[in-house]
Amino acid sequence: MTDVSRRKVLSLLAGGFVAFLASPSAVDAMPTIRAGDICKKLGRRTTEGNKTFECVNSNGKRVWKRVTKTTQPTSTTQPATPTTSEVKVLDSSALTVGKSENVVVNSGGRNFAVVVTRTSAGVFAFNRACTHQGTLVTVNSLNQLECISHGSLFNLTTGAVIEGPASRALTSYKVTERSGAIYLTL
Ligand code: FES
Repeated sequence: MTDVSRRKVLSLLAGGFVAFLASPSAVDAMPTIRAGDICKKLGRRTTEGNKTFECVNSNGKRVWKRVTKTTQPTSTTQPATPTTSEVKVLDSSALTVGKSENVVVNSGGRNFAVVVTRTSAGVFAFNRACTHQGTLVTVNSLNQLECISHGSLFNLTTGAVIEGPASRALTSYKVTERSGAIYLTL
């Protein structure tokens, strides 16, 4: 084989190898993240090619889970959109100091999941939809509002984030108490 034809053969082989590495099928064949791999930060998302993974809690372990574009928040209520109407939610006697109640408030034809708490400082009400992805928060044993999906924690009387991945406070509602009843303005 002459020098020229040997060079041609070598250049064709090298070009084919580069094309293989750059092809989508080659990239797909070598993912760096797979569902079930260990991850570090709950709620973090990353995309590999056309696949998106989210770091979730699974049986006490933090692992990557594949998510699809059609994944919806697990909230069962509408997002908090104020309608500025006052709604009676509880009798005052039903909420003693230190107690929280979960209520569903219908306003403007829509249902809102709300947690109402009475402390010695007053009565506080927040939409229960976690500001991360909408899972409903519940009061935990430390008197914090906790989201079980990815572990966000919120202050029970201010709604502020104590721990992420949520980065925004819960939506709060104005509380009015009169004539033995508690009203929220939604
Ligand atoms: S939905 Fe992710 S922390 Fe609440």
